[in-house]
Amino acid sequence: MRWLTTISLGFGALARLAHATSCTGVSAVSPNCTSKEVAYKRDYFYIGGEYVYSESLSGSIFSDQLYVEKLTPQTGVNQTNPIVFISAGVPSGAVWLNTLDNRRGWASYFLDHGYQVYILDITSVGRSSQPQFSIYPLKIGSTDNITRNCYTSPETIMPYPQAINHTQWPGTGIRGDAIFDSFMASMIPLTSNATSLELSMRKAGCQLLEMIGSSFLISHSAGSTYATLLSDQCPNLIKANVNIEPGNTPFQSLVGNSTVPAVGRTSARPYGLTTTEIGYVPALNSSADLETVWVGDDLAGNRSCVMQTEPARQLPNIAKVPYVAITGAASPHITYDHCIINYLKQVGVDPEWIKLEDRGILGNGHFMYLEKNSDEIAAVVLEWMQSR
Ligand SMILES: *[C@@H]1O[C@H](CO)[C@@H](O)[C@H](O)[C@H]1NC(C)=O
Ligand SMILES: *[C@@H]1O[C@H](CO)[C@@H](O)[C@H](O)[C@H]1NC(C)=O
Ligand SMILES: *[C@@H]1O[C@H](CO)[C@@H](O)[C@H](O)[C@H]1NC(C)=O
Ligand SMILES: *[C@@H]1O[C@H](CO)[C@@H](O)[C@H](O)[C@H]1NC(C)=O
Ligand SMILES: *[C@@H]1O[C@H](CO)[C@@H](O)[C@H](O)[C@H]1NC(C)=O
Ligand SMILES: *[C@@H]1O[C@H](CO)[C@@H](O)[C@H](O)[C@H]1NC(C)=O
Ligand SMILES: *[C@@H]1O[C@H](CO)[C@@H](O)[C@H](O)[C@H]1NC(C)=O
Ligand SMILES: *[C@@H]1O[C@H](CO)[C@@H](O)[C@H](O)[C@H]1NC(C)=O
Repeated sequence: MRWLTTISLGFGALARLAHATSCTGVSAVSPNCTSKEVAYKRDYFYIGGEYVYSESLSGSIFSDQLYVEKLTPQTGVNQTNPIVFISAGVPSGAVWLNTLDNRRGWASYFLDHGYQVYILDITSVGRSSQPQFSIYPLKIGSTDNITRNCYTSPETIMPYPQAINHTQWPGTGIRGDAIFDSFMASMIPLTSNATSLELSMRKAGCQLLEMIGSSFLISHSAGSTYATLLSDQCPNLIKANVNIEPGNTPFQSLVGNSTVPAVGRTSARPYGLTTTEIGYVPALNSSADLETVWVGDDLAGNRSCVMQTEPARQLPNIAKVPYVAITGAASPHITYDHCIINYLKQVGVDPEWIKLEDRGILGNGHFMYLEKNSDEIAAVVLEWMQSR
């Protein structure tokens, strides 16, 4: 019977069948498989940076420049405002292209809807320059830290109650799984100096926006720090900010382990949303002038926050830019993204917060744009952008 079926399928059909079955999951990136990306043209350029004199090399070098990829849909652009994608830094801008299990990535999704797309490698990462020519040590996420930070498999360690509902990561999300291993392989080093990173991103980022005009910024995690800096520096060049689980939680970095209150958080970002100065009104002489207070109980499922004491200084430039944060139902961020939303309200911004569970979208973690329902979430982003 089996033999007869084989004959009746014919050799061509058999070859296609073998081909089709090998083109799933992470094996879909093999050279024989068809790309899921939409057709586009790709250009690249560098922007920002400057000549600096290097003592060690006894000569001038070019430093702090930003690598930008410009993707143009083959079917043409029909949207007024381009999109600039800003990754957290680990990984590079490549994270917005095809997903690790080779489904259509977010860049393709928006190209398909007629947007001009720009993808950055943030300064110090990938094809961008090292700020000040790499005089600072590099850092990178270790496998243990990626796991502890609950990016791909929080349900296996249950550091917060909502983790039990995490279902959207493709594969097991742990070492040895092909998709997770590809995810780890996409993690590349970046500078450990947040000051030099912020200064170079701020400068080169606004130069990019001057060139391409008013744009939507779509940022993820720590990438939202740079969207915040650009909003402060050149708000009129930003159509709106879409923050996928913003990593610039006010004054604190919260990671994974929230089982025991006060575990899994460290002081960060002395200017609240940033490490470097932003335009508070009344003005500050230094970050020490920001008076802060703890708000809320520190519970595993809902963390406490740092706010300013009232009357709070305002951030009028950042308030000029429409802002939305998007948070997954089973991500560690669901336990603390209220901190940035409440802080933004306090400093005069009118933020929107889309909790995916309120849209009936369940099971997402921190890298939601790589997860199985990434297109469904892109549709939420598209709808919000088109309502602007
Ligand atoms: C790709 O195609 C070639 C030629 O048809 C074949 O020899 C090879 O095994 C295929 N590789 C994969 C990964 O399917
Ligand atoms: C823009 O083009 C895309 C793809 O061709 C199409 O889906 C979309 O409806 C168009 N949008 C507008 C506003 O014309
Ligand atoms: C892991 O995270 C801890 C705490 O943030 C940090 O001290 C350590 O250097 C990190 N390890 C690696 C290899 O990145
Ligand atoms: C969280 O931290 C506590 C205290 O350090 C530790 O006992 C617990 O094992 C940690 N939980 C996880 C999931 O890492
Ligand atoms: C898990 O998801 C279910 C269904 O949406 C929900 O009722 C439940 O509250 C969630 N559990 C936690 C701990 O968030
Ligand atoms: C970080 O970079 C800034 C600006 O380039 C520099 O002033 C500072 O000394 C650097 N910090 C460290 C710890 O190297
Ligand atoms: C900042 O410095 C000026 C001049 O030294 C001083 O008058 C002012 O009170 C300071 N502001 C704050 C908030 O400390
Ligand atoms: C979490 O805590 C904040 C106060 O920090 C509070 O406003 C909010 O209602 C709490 N959320 C939940 C889901 O309990």
